[in-house]
Amino acid sequence: MNNRGNWGSKLGFILAAAGSAIGLGNLWKFPYMTGKHGGGAFVLVYLICILLVGVPIMIAEIYIGKKTQKNPIGAFTELETESKGIIHYHKNGKVLKPFNLIGWMGFIAGFLILSFYSVVIGWVFHFLYLSVKGFDNLNTHYLFDDLYSNAYLNIFWHTIAMLITIFIVARGIQKGIETANKIMMPLLFLILIGVMIYSLMLNNSFESINFMFNPDFSKINSEAIIQALGHSFFTLSLGMGAMITYGSYLNKKTSIIKTTLIVTFLDTLIALMAGVAIFSIVFSYNLEPSAGPGLIFKTLPIIFSEMKGGYVLAIVFFVLVLFAALTSAISLLEVVVSYFIDEKQWSRKKASWFMGGIIYLLGILSAVSSLKIFNESYLDFFDGLTTKYIMPIGGFFIITIFAFVLTDKEKQEELNLTGKLYNIFSFVVKYITPVLVLWIILNKIGVM
Ligand code: TRP
Repeated sequence: MNNRGNWGSKLGFILAAAGSAIGLGNLWKFPYMTGKHGGGAFVLVYLICILLVGVPIMIAEIYIGKKTQKNPIGAFTELETESKGIIHYHKNGKVLKPFNLIGWMGFIAGFLILSFYSVVIGWVFHFLYLSVKGFDNLNTHYLFDDLYSNAYLNIFWHTIAMLITIFIVARGIQKGIETANKIMMPLLFLILIGVMIYSLMLNNSFESINFMFNPDFSKINSEAIIQALGHSFFTLSLGMGAMITYGSYLNKKTSIIKTTLIVTFLDTLIALMAGVAIFSIVFSYNLEPSAGPGLIFKTLPIIFSEMKGGYVLAIVFFVLVLFAALTSAISLLEVVVSYFIDEKQWSRKKASWFMGGIIYLLGILSAVSSLKIFNESYLDFFDGLTTKYIMPIGGFFIITIFAFVLTDKEKQEELNLTGKLYNIFSFVVKYITPVLVLWIILNKIGVM
């Protein structure tokens, strides 16, 4: 064995994969995107994407990681060699390795996502700080806008968020990532149930269920569909090799399919619970469901300031959101760091601090909301670029390679699937998932 590190236990891996998946995507992004795209129809498209795209691609990623025991770039290099002449080709005497591009695309996506993700973690930090100070019911609503326009404050919290992320990754897989996940994820779940029950007891909670689960297809357009597809990648940490990296630390007989189903189920459940809780508050207090990225920061403080014991609950809640977010940030940095450890023989410490430092600098662009690119903030731009394009395209290649390059025999053995069940699985990964992803991307860029 090499010295890359391994998960301490099966449960450790499941929790870490769930920890990577469950994050700001569920608690911050899903509710605000659902609000922006009109509710039910968006949720339905999102759920279909999770099932037909997310699940197969997560299986493929963990599979590739477990098989190659490498970082995404190394993993694709190995698969390319395995595919022999099929895709490998020569040009002017030079061997081109197109598979590597997929790994590199993921590497770049990791940079971009973490750079803005850290800024949003900073917002959570700020709200934790505010809840320690105690929310004052009158102006909770405006707190987010004040923060959003304050560049120094954003940079300050972004600095803290990156320092913590780097620190944990630098300490290594078991001691850092695994322990943190094991403690915090179950707690988050319990608190979220509490917040949801409380908000369901508010006046207009029925309206929130109706908003989220009663689809109105007139509100859906190609932008909403690509956002739903992209979000299914984002929320499950797919399309850029994070699950390949996590899978690469697996060396035990862990069932890939079972793990995938557990992680996907938990991730979806938490997103839906967060949505129900937040929209109950939105409709009970006449707020705008389409408030955008500030949505959760404008809604939750209201009930925290009103409910009995809200002071304590607010603090606990933001601590846990912070944890959910940090476990995801860690997985993003880990993708980048694992490459330098494997391929460049850097020490984990050096890779973590050096790469983390570059991502930190890039994140400053997103922290300053007045800086614009193509009329958008950098945060929105990096988010859109990765969610709508890089991750779906990466996912398309990952599933195609998995479906067509790896042999049926090895997949049947590793996945423990035979007969009809395998045939159905194989049909989905060959003809449903890639076609669906490609169709949505082409539709969005207007080719179809
Ligand atoms: N899934 C995380 C969330 O929902 C974010 C995340 C972590 C991620 N690692 C990733 C997104 C890798 C894409 C790729 O918040």
